[in-house]
Amino acid sequence: MKFKALFSIALLFISSCAFAADKLPHVVILATGGTIAGSAPSNTQTTGYKAGAIGVDALIQAVPELSKIARVDGEQIANVGSNNLTSDIILKLSQRVNELLARDDVDGVVITHGTDTLDETPYFLNLTVKSNKPVVFTGAMRPATAISADGPMNLLQAVTVAADPDAKGRGVMVVFNDRIGAARYMTKTNATTIDTFKAPEQGYLGVIVGGEPHFETRVEKIHTLGSVFDVRNVKALPKVVIIYGYQDDPEYMYDAAIEHHADGIIYAGMGAGSVSKRSEAGIKKAEKAGIIVVRASRTGAGIVSPDSDQPGLVSDSLNPAKARILLMTALTETRNPQLIQRYFQTY
Ligand code: SIN
Repeated sequence: MKFKALFSIALLFISSCAFAADKLPHVVILATGGTIAGSAPSNTQTTGYKAGAIGVDALIQAVPELSKIARVDGEQIANVGSNNLTSDIILKLSQRVNELLARDDVDGVVITHGTDTLDETPYFLNLTVKSNKPVVFTGAMRPATAISADGPMNLLQAVTVAADPDAKGRGVMVVFNDRIGAARYMTKTNATTIDTFKAPEQGYLGVIVGGEPHFETRVEKIHTLGSVFDVRNVKALPKVVIIYGYQDDPEYMYDAAIEHHADGIIYAGMGAGSVSKRSEAGIKKAEKAGIIVVRASRTGAGIVSPDSDQPGLVSDSLNPAKARILLMTALTETRNPQLIQRYFQTY
């Protein structure tokens, strides 16, 4: 009799735990590689390691605490350094995120990603995800095998944000080193340190303290559900290249872009997007060949505003890498320069 009672209590306890776990938000982790999945031969090696060596299941198993925050499962989209991601891969990623978020049983998505291009892919998804459910990118500066690897805590914090109903409708986010940032603004500011992700002019959306997200601000620029861009049925993204402006920059870079049938060029200009005589001639030649050219600033901050004395459209506050993402996306919709210029001022 005593045994029977104990057995029923244990059964009740187990089923109430299962019920509680069932009630947790469902977050899908999509892995693409990077240092967060990096492996080195020694635990002190933090350079020269192999990025994208560990699979998504191992990333999840390394953080058992995830199961207290969400029901997580993982999918491997790619396993490469983010320097080797391509527009085909980020297009596939956006399409997969759209499929997942359209399901009633998925509450949010986390994407693990290399840090080197972690200002590009999140912004692409910010423009192309048709949902207000949280989409959170994270990565790491130290490989998974290092002492004090930052990946496990970044992953835990990213899932915490993705599982938080308050994270809805804020656009795609980058969670890194206790900070929550908007994909529109976050950028890598240091080649090696773990506090590298910042939004130097606009600041963060919030912070994570004691395992809890605290949101402070929202972004004004259009994103996700408000965006006109829809790449769910797009097969390939237009080709956009970046040409860097500097003293002696040669005109032949523009000839190469024309020869290789670029659809667009981002000019990473000096100062507020100023052009040399050679770049001016190159931009005009490219525009004549039907290529849309947008001038951005190589300084990494500030606004490039329209100037009737200079050729090309302007990037507003987007850095050259993010400007390339917006131009590729805009060119899936239109080649109208006035409309594209409006996109640069509102997205
Ligand atoms: C990468 O971008 O894949 C390598 C560097 C990193 O993740 O920190």
